[in-house]
Amino acid sequence: MHDEVTGKVHWHEPVSEERAGHGTFGQPLTDYDKFMEAEGIGIYRGLGFNSVFDLPLNDWPRMGGRGHFIQLHGTEGKWGCYVVEVPAGGALNPEKHIYEEIFLVAEGRGTTEVWLEDGGPKHVFEWQKGSLFSIPVNAYHRVVNATNKPALLIAGTTAPNLMDLLGNTDFIYNAPYNFNDRFSAARDFYKPSEDVEPDPIRGLAMRRTNLVPDVVNCELPLDNRRSPGYRRVEPFMTGNKFYLWLGQHETGRYSKAHAHTSAAVLIGLKGKGYTYTWPEELGVNPWKDGNGDQVQRIDYGQFGMVSAAPGGARWYHQHFNVSAEPFRISAWFGPNHPSLVTGLRPGAKQTDYTAMDIHEGGTAIPYWLEDPFLRKEFQESLRQAGAEIRMEPSRYEKPAGLD
Ligand SMILES: [Fe+2]
Repeated sequence: MHDEVTGKVHWHEPVSEERAGHGTFGQPLTDYDKFMEAEGIGIYRGLGFNSVFDLPLNDWPRMGGRGHFIQLHGTEGKWGCYVVEVPAGGALNPEKHIYEEIFLVAEGRGTTEVWLEDGGPKHVFEWQKGSLFSIPVNAYHRVVNATNKPALLIAGTTAPNLMDLLGNTDFIYNAPYNFNDRFSAARDFYKPSEDVEPDPIRGLAMRRTNLVPDVVNCELPLDNRRSPGYRRVEPFMTGNKFYLWLGQHETGRYSKAHAHTSAAVLIGLKGKGYTYTWPEELGVNPWKDGNGDQVQRIDYGQFGMVSAAPGGARWYHQHFNVSAEPFRISAWFGPNHPSLVTGLRPGAKQTDYTAMDIHEGGTAIPYWLEDPFLRKEFQESLRQAGAEIRMEPSRYEKPAGLD
């Protein structure tokens, strides 16, 4: 296939009825994959991990700290994530970029400066462990560590989306455009707001705020969709497309399983527990049906992470609290809102299918339909932890009137 003279590879028409091309091939590197590799700080690829503090940190000259990329299975091409350490008494390099970026503080205390253009008004706000804040698209920002100990921040971005679409990182970091629709010089821009309003799509509790000072301990409104007493809010930050929520299961109770496609990553905020995830095709009773070995499990605590749906197709996932305190998690989706389905005409009927039970047309498995292994294991785990079990037996009984 090589030209004897130039060494160039030629394309040859298939012979007879052979089909053109390789037939099978490896998933190619995306522009974002190449970007991550060139940064040279290492990439965690997997289902998840117990604690972000376990990731190795490597010198990151562009950022001015140490860091590690996180690309959990199922998030490839959908959104980006990394952990960065801000040196003690130091700061990360100032930067701007046309992708969205949110930060969750896993450890430390400091300030962030945000400004739109050289010499323009500068916002400065404080953060601590548990703070969540967002940087408006293409605004300069500088993360400063106020203490004599390193600070650790988890970042979520839309960098893969922009890099893979445009294929030009120079433009992404040096675009001369002010997104005045995302940034405001108003003094209250980083003043936390606790006002709750219905989100415009599903009518769930939403907080319009560019900073949440403490996602570990802040109030969460009642939701009831995932478990009895479940609390939840969606922070809507700096006009972002990046979708996320904060949720909390009561002590002694656990989430119903539900299925959807990949993008969602859960980050532990309070309590500790485990997440099971399995392909939807294994059905609602994978252990009973002898497929328990294909169910994947990640145990995690505060600032551990797990991919809810690690494959491309729909996966069930279910979250269990094994501590004597509520189980609080944050779910990050990147710009992949679970109810913004491409290929649907405006006004086409949608259902909040991850909140509806299977017999209601959703994908949630009601407790009475779930694999009995789950209840047994949950009860044993709680007994060992000395926590009260608050799953009433009636929740495992089929409601009257259902076939
Ligand atoms: Fe989910």
